[in-house]
Amino acid sequence: MAVTIKTGNEIALMRRANEIVAETLNLLASKVAVGVSTKELDALAEEWAKKNGALPAFKGYRGYPASLCVSINEQVVHGIPSKKVVIRDGDIVSIDFGVNFRGFFGDAALSVLAGKVAADSAKVKLLTVTRDALFAGIEQARGGNRVSDISEAVQAVVESNRLHVVKQFVGHGIGASLHEAPEVPNYKRPGRSQRLLPGMVLAIEPMVNVGTSEVEVLKDGWTVVTADRSLSAHFEHSVLITDGEPEVLSSAIVM
Ligand code: MF3
Ligand code: CO
Repeated sequence: MAVTIKTGNEIALMRRANEIVAETLNLLASKVAVGVSTKELDALAEEWAKKNGALPAFKGYRGYPASLCVSINEQVVHGIPSKKVVIRDGDIVSIDFGVNFRGFFGDAALSVLAGKVAADSAKVKLLTVTRDALFAGIEQARGGNRVSDISEAVQAVVESNRLHVVKQFVGHGIGASLHEAPEVPNYKRPGRSQRLLPGMVLAIEPMVNVGTSEVEVLKDGWTVVTADRSLSAHFEHSVLITDGEPEVLSSAIVM
């Protein structure tokens, strides 16, 4: 699919879609606690989106069976909520949510820590670096730059901290579809990438692993885990390209 440039009305709908996503993620982050099942989070997300006139975007997308993705510890993305998956002390809980609001999509994610984790823990560092990498990428999301400026900024933050970006999954354009061109990799690719134009909206989403970049998909067909089962984190914002400062449409997330 081609890159799309959003009109004023479309941008207004995407602001609202992403606001609903952000409010939902804030609610879910406040509910993350030892003993809570990921299915309970999924139910809350679906309920909150519908209450706000939006539809969960992931449910049924390519057959995905839930409204929310909840990926714990070595799970990178696309963890399927289940009443059998119960959050434990010290877990890294990555929550990814998207909605369709009147035909336009919002998509964002964050990782949080459950229970008691020491401030100097490697887990805290992993989350901090992944979030910093997202914001370094956003800083480059400006008209006139290229997608590769975002990619290289994300990768530089991650690798300078001796952590590893996932390469098999990437960020994406977003609009009237959840996934649009261009792809937004979290690493440098050879060749010239798409020029950024005002009116484009990009979902920038670094996935960062402790051990190596390598990942694999579990037999459920969805859950992406680190190949070495080391820890992973994920942060995502939907960002509007303008003539000036990037506008983070999902900026209401407390992360
Ligand atoms: N935020 C993820 C993405 O952008 C969510 C997709 S999960 C799926 O790809 F279930 F919808 F595939
Ligand atoms: Co996304």
